[in-house]
Amino acid sequence: MTTESPTTCGAAVRSSDWLGRIVCGDNTEVLSGFPDACIDLVVTSPPYDDLRTYGGHSWNFEALAAQLVRVLKPGGVIVWVVADATVNGSETLTSMRQAIHFKDVCGLNVHDTMTYEKHNPPPTGSGRYYQAWEYMMVLSKGKPKAFNAILEPRRNVCGDKRTHRVKGFERDKNGNVQKKEYHIRENVPRRNVWSYLVNGGSSADDAMFAHAHPAIFPIALAKDHVASWSNPGDVVLDPFAGSGTTLKAAKELNRQWCGIEINPEYCAIAEARLSQDVLQLETCAMRPNVRFSDSPSGSGESTKTP
Ligand SMILES: C[S@@+](CC[C@H](N)C(=O)[O-])C[C@H]1O[C@@H](n2cnc3c(N)ncnc32)[C@H](O)[C@@H]1O
Repeated sequence: MTTESPTTCGAAVRSSDWLGRIVCGDNTEVLSGFPDACIDLVVTSPPYDDLRTYGGHSWNFEALAAQLVRVLKPGGVIVWVVADATVNGSETLTSMRQAIHFKDVCGLNVHDTMTYEKHNPPPTGSGRYYQAWEYMMVLSKGKPKAFNAILEPRRNVCGDKRTHRVKGFERDKNGNVQKKEYHIRENVPRRNVWSYLVNGGSSADDAMFAHAHPAIFPIALAKDHVASWSNPGDVVLDPFAGSGTTLKAAKELNRQWCGIEINPEYCAIAEARLSQDVLQLETCAMRPNVRFSDSPSGSGESTKTP
């Protein structure tokens, strides 16, 4: 792991010290050093309830939510991928409380409550159906400033092969009745339930990383959100970077990126994953009060049961 940094903790550093890097530390603490309104898009998945601690680490939802909203640009988007633990036979509904907090306390719009469907969910305990989906809460600071809809072929449930439909009838100047038709689009925006293969290495397109982290989410999921809610050159953040899936998606789609991850082992995994090209890894584990004071300038599978 590279630990070189031109700065010391508590001192102001340039955006080049966090752009294109994985900062190893607690996300709330690290973000407290970021300037206001420097992030275009957050795509992330926090640990779900106490299902896993990823090496005994904890996080503070309310403090993190406040920081995320502060660093988000107007029109920026947070994609919060989350599900609930089942405790004493009952789902915790933590995911819903978090969404309500983002809306009622932080003032974000709940732009779209999307669903991540697992095409091949792992078996669930007895007495209930297999758990096959998670929330993908799309939260925005005002109206999203970027939306690049992913198109897919129009579903034709009735086997209708027409390319035009009759909208109505009108008479021409000679009094003859003419059909008014409209063109039926072949491709339409995708629905807000997205389905991905999970497990068995299907989450990562780089096989050597598929099992490196216990809760990697599909690279395709990350890419689809990055493509939808940001434009090339925008800054994409994952404050629970894990194995670096969001960062890899951002990098491949020519976005700038920044990751924060508390577990040094996962920082190393993400580093290895991203350094298949070039990666500079910043570690703040020993420097908890690092501050980042300027604005960014450059451009830069579940498997999950978090
Ligand atoms: C669900 S995993 C994210 C996996 C990631 N989406 C991927 O595809 O690899 C959540 C991650 O958050 C990290 N984490 C937990 N508490 C944290 C904190 N306070 N600050 C930063 N990262 C934290 C865990 O170590 C874990 O890697």
